[in-house]
Amino acid sequence: MSRVYMVDIYHHPIAQKYLRRSGLAHAVACAYNAFALAERAGVDADAACKAAFLHDIGHYTWYQNGSWDYEQYRRNDIHAIKGAERAHKLLIRLGEDPEKAKEISLAVLFHTDSFLPDPSMKKDKLQEVVAAADEADEEPGGAHHYRKITDDSAVKSLTALDTMLTARCTQTAASS
Ligand SMILES: [Fe+2]
Repeated sequence: MSRVYMVDIYHHPIAQKYLRRSGLAHAVACAYNAFALAERAGVDADAACKAAFLHDIGHYTWYQNGSWDYEQYRRNDIHAIKGAERAHKLLIRLGEDPEKAKEISLAVLFHTDSFLPDPSMKKDKLQEVVAAADEADEEPGGAHHYRKITDDSAVKSLTALDTMLTARCTQTAASS
């Protein structure tokens, strides 16, 4: 099974179709946050970066007359559920290890507790890291969803992150 890179995810048609809805700049920033947080938490950085990059891929566009309809969103949103499914489909199509694809998908599902019947549910370490990576990039009024990044900068940032992940994998393999 060959490794799935962050840039492979970026170029996949599912990511291209849905990632921009919630902000490509936010997705890239969260992936970097997850890289930093994963080491401290002792979780797989590759899974954390992938889940953080994809965490908002399930968003629907709740626009009314050109502006975001928060009431509709609050009442009807299921972006975590949709995102978990889209992330899983995309990763499996790219050839990701099925166990890892499930872990990543669950971290996308639990990155927000807004839809959970019991918000006190205990998250595992990977899910905590992804939720924290998202929170760390949030701006008042949801402005983080509107920050811009060019495609070129996104690809450069993700390629650099792939290199950092390769180095982290090599370090981990050498120390085990
Ligand atoms: Fe987010």
